[in-house]
Amino acid sequence: MAGGARLAGEVEVVGAKNSVLKLMAAALLAPGTTVLGNLPEISDVTIMNELLLRLGCEVGACERPDEIAVKVPDLPRHEAPYELVRKIRGSICVLGPLLARTGRARVAMPGGDAIGSRPLDMHFAGLEKMGTRIDIEHGYIVAEAPRLRGAPIWLDFPSVGATENILTAAVLAQGTTVIDNAAREPEIIDLCRMLVAMGARIEGIGTSTLEVVGVDALHPVNHRAVADRIVTGTWAIAAVATRGDVLIRGGDASHLQIALDKLAGAGASVEAGPGFVRVAMGEQARSFDVVTLPYPGFPTDLQPQAIALLSVSDGTAMITENLFEARFMFCDEIARMGADVRTDGHHAVVRGRPRLSGAPVRATDIRAGVGLVIAALVAEGTTEIAGVPHIDRGYVRLEEQLRALGADAVRVESGTFDG
Ligand code: UD1
Repeated sequence: MAGGARLAGEVEVVGAKNSVLKLMAAALLAPGTTVLGNLPEISDVTIMNELLLRLGCEVGACERPDEIAVKVPDLPRHEAPYELVRKIRGSICVLGPLLARTGRARVAMPGGDAIGSRPLDMHFAGLEKMGTRIDIEHGYIVAEAPRLRGAPIWLDFPSVGATENILTAAVLAQGTTVIDNAAREPEIIDLCRMLVAMGARIEGIGTSTLEVVGVDALHPVNHRAVADRIVTGTWAIAAVATRGDVLIRGGDASHLQIALDKLAGAGASVEAGPGFVRVAMGEQARSFDVVTLPYPGFPTDLQPQAIALLSVSDGTAMITENLFEARFMFCDEIARMGADVRTDGHHAVVRGRPRLSGAPVRATDIRAGVGLVIAALVAEGTTEIAGVPHIDRGYVRLEEQLRALGADAVRVESGTFDG
């Protein structure tokens, strides 16, 4: 990629990866054909498709290219193999639906991750409270629950994944489950809406207390996924960093309030309406501090992109990462491009400079990868980013979208994501 371009024009944002994967897993909760729409063409969706096939579903194309039909058998298989789970950790979200439908699940333990240690203790504690027996055997989570029963559950932390697994188990459990300190991300709301359309009884949607009254059976539905707020935020940050003007169609500003507020405070013009966000910038951004927190806080999934912007902003910024400690590995990579970033593991201090300088760098995960893309856009000279398949996990043909906005970006080698 060559740096120096000012991004200008329109981009389209489709369904959120972090919602779609969970909606695909939730389809398992009802026998018959569920149609899911607004799907992004990303490799994580392809891998989740494969997993559904392994679980005995049929997955087919629909008339609209952004839709798939998932035909779920009366009794799905219950094993999620390591070769798929290790590629997308998000596939752990089949645990709740499989337990609810078949009373058992064998799901590979996802293992380590480039953004830090990611324990599953809250998933397990919640499901155990509902009567599940969980063992780890030969690298697999072996879970059995002949009769799931509702229970009061308090999460130590509003974990997205734990909330989802407990929720999808609770919808078919006997009795009432109350999840306290539940996550409130728009993707959780999206999942709740789909579950309610399937016949689930859930109160408190969008709040940190979810009350679920289990029902005997759910039915298949047609559902369109919520727009990807992280992709929307990525384009917004890229527009500010390049002093550009980007109209982001399909994005929902109400899901990104803190991040967009930060950009406005940095000097950007942010305009939003139903189904669009427009971000424009005419000058060097002013630095701002970032503290990552569960929704509605500043999303950890926008933290590397923010560091890329702050490394060319006016002033000094303090970043506090509260979710994934290893995310700051990105700092060493962007430092290769001349960014002045120091970190102690929990905080990073970024001193802005006028420009970065192009260098060969490596993406270690989706968001670090796209953070490097933003850095490359504001660097002098050429940047070669290795590990692009990481970016393909969450962004649809990013190089084409960048070129459409005026950037000089080409894919030099093709490869697919392999964990
Ligand atoms: C999801 C998103 C990810 C995003 C993250 C936080 C998907 C596929 N991934 O990940 O992109 O960065 O939310 O918004 O949706 N934790 C425990 N024990 C548990 C579960 C979590 O200690 O049992 C900790 C984690 O280590 C982390 C924090 O809780 O520090 C939040 O994790 P969580 O919200 O569960 O994130 P994921 O669902 O894994």
